[in-house]
Amino acid sequence: MSRGEQIKAPRGTFDVLAEQAGVRASLEGSARKLLEGAGYERIETPVLEATELFARGVGASTDIVQKEMFTLEDGGGRSLALRPEGTAPICRAYVEHGMHKRKQPVKLWYLSNFFRHERAQAGRYRQFWQVGAEALGSEDPAVDAESIVLLAALLGELGVREVRLRLSSLGSGESRAAYRELLQAHLRAHEASLSEEVRGRIELNPLRAFDSDHEGTRRVMANAPRLLDHLDDDDAEHFAQVRELLDVAEVPYEVDPTLVRGLDYYTRTVFEFTSDALGAQSGVGGGGRYDGLVEKIKGTASGGEIMKGPPTHGPTTPGIGWATGIERILLAGEPAPVAASPVDLFVALGEGGEIRKASFAVLGDARSAGLTAQMELAGRSLKGQLGLANALGARYVAIVEGEETVLKDMQGGGQERLATDTVVHAVLRALRDL
Ligand code: HAM
Repeated sequence: MSRGEQIKAPRGTFDVLAEQAGVRASLEGSARKLLEGAGYERIETPVLEATELFARGVGASTDIVQKEMFTLEDGGGRSLALRPEGTAPICRAYVEHGMHKRKQPVKLWYLSNFFRHERAQAGRYRQFWQVGAEALGSEDPAVDAESIVLLAALLGELGVREVRLRLSSLGSGESRAAYRELLQAHLRAHEASLSEEVRGRIELNPLRAFDSDHEGTRRVMANAPRLLDHLDDDDAEHFAQVRELLDVAEVPYEVDPTLVRGLDYYTRTVFEFTSDALGAQSGVGGGGRYDGLVEKIKGTASGGEIMKGPPTHGPTTPGIGWATGIERILLAGEPAPVAASPVDLFVALGEGGEIRKASFAVLGDARSAGLTAQMELAGRSLKGQLGLANALGARYVAIVEGEETVLKDMQGGGQERLATDTVVHAVLRALRDL
């Protein structure tokens, strides 16, 4: 950047200005009400985490880890990353704070900013915000169903249009390993038709081939074996129960055996909500089960230190959750208009000496008494001040003239002259009598 050139927000980032701040606050309010009502507790983890957390948690072969993390080194030569997602950090916090000792499942929600070095376009940013919900410590299919129902309810409440839910199961354990080999064999048999990227991932991440938009790869994948047809009995039963409960809750879904998510930690249930009201970036929220992720990331703390955690032997810690992008909700939703906060009293500076001090005292008294109040701060003429009070929609204006004040009723139109130290009382009384 040359000297003198205007400095703008970096590509793919944006300022949240007052108009959007109001809508975002109401969105946060809806999420809090819904999730806390369902027993989810708010959690905030640091923006910076050990890079290793995501390499281990999200997966070394994912786009997120290979291409999209913003990383930096701290003074001690440790690599830190701006968090690209929230699930691995939540699992880290679960271990670090011994949450396995609490009643399970531990249900946590967050509203945080995340960072991915992606090609910026409408609906895809380099800093974006997510509401997320994670439930750790239970593999009961009712947790999966509850989690999905809550996201459906949230998107519904926020007016997200033309929503579709796709659902699948990735299985777990041995059946998954056996399926992986089957898929790898299919991919190797058709290697020449695959994209270079998919070919490079046959060993590490063959499932991602389902996600490719490369012509040849798509043709090969049309005849590929499907994981859903190779689930073992436990996984198939688990998936059937999740579907049954979604039917009970009357949440419509379509089973999509080709559904793949961009993160490697998923086991069993996976799902994605899309909105046809969005363009190319149609994913409005998604998630799934990640049994065993806690064990995978044990050993990384926020500063990169080694942690102790739940015992490593025995069954792995189950978990399930989702995240939904706030910007995409705003693009695909009908955000409720947010009423501007009302101004009960505008304190105007009238004629006379020592007016500012007297006005400042009235402002302080008004706020202490619980009124919303603002004061003239830019040296306007009295006419200008009344214009501003009007623009703010102030209910009353106190024109302070020293010991005395003229109190104007901006809606009723009347006015009266009072002792300045009784003005707040008069406004309180008038508002009460309205
Ligand atoms: P994800 O699918 O990567 O999952 O992201 C979830 C949502 O975040 C997406 O559906 C989208 O709405 C939004 N999002 C993702 N990237 C961007 C971006 N660059 N710009 C704007 N919005 C974006 C996760 O992050 C998982 N942690 C979800 C999860 C929670 N799975 C289990 N628990």
